[in-house]
Amino acid sequence: MNPIQHVAIIMDGNGRWGKKYKNSRNAGHRAGLNTVENIIYSSIKNKIKYLTLYAFSTENWKRPQSEIKFLFKLLNNFIDQKIDEFNKNDIKLKILGNINIFNLKLKKKLIKSEEITKNNMRLQVNLALNYGSKSELIYAFNKLKKQKLSITEKNLEKYLYTNKIPDPDILIRTGNTKRLSNFLLWQLAYTEIYFEKKLWPDFNKNDYSKILKKFKVTKRNYGNI
Ligand code: FPP
Repeated sequence: MNPIQHVAIIMDGNGRWGKKYKNSRNAGHRAGLNTVENIIYSSIKNKIKYLTLYAFSTENWKRPQSEIKFLFKLLNNFIDQKIDEFNKNDIKLKILGNINIFNLKLKKKLIKSEEITKNNMRLQVNLALNYGSKSELIYAFNKLKKQKLSITEKNLEKYLYTNKIPDPDILIRTGNTKRLSNFLLWQLAYTEIYFEKKLWPDFNKNDYSKILKKFKVTKRNYGNI
């Protein structure tokens, strides 16, 4: 049986769900937040140590202002309402992505949330926000160049947002779309990928359990036979 340390998820399909059931993409994002919470607690039950959620990409800025505004309002409320509960449940929050361009209030809130929860051990939730894998890699390569360090896997990984985090064992993408969308391109080199037909708001604990079960009996070769 394969142990599962790290699950990464591309939470796709909120917009389509919202349009279909409520005639509003934003309603889909709101519904998607319930799934976020369910999957966090389900990860704890399954003794997973790291859960990485792709919440906002560097490309998502192309969306209409009203949707971007709504997503950040959701994020703000989510942190305000949940951080104490997460802390009590021994959950550590880490942000992956460049938060320097966020307004100062949100930036401070995110840094404070990381600070409050930094010693928690049960589950680490990595929230990818304004995250793009290509810019993460370019940043890391430039760091190596500036510091005149040789280009090795070990040196490069020191400058990725995921430094000290094991690579994902599992990547799940919901929403019936098969692409990586600039997510963890380096870190996914040997990850098992599961494409799920359901839209993110419909994805539930049973769907999650089924994937975890499948993974546990998958033979991982890492290039060997
Ligand atoms: C992709 O679905 C989803 C997003 C870009 C945002 C993900 C956000 C949430 C799950 C809610 C907010 C989360 C937090 C943690 C505050 P899409 O909008 O691309 O869906 P579509 O493919 O149907 O258009």
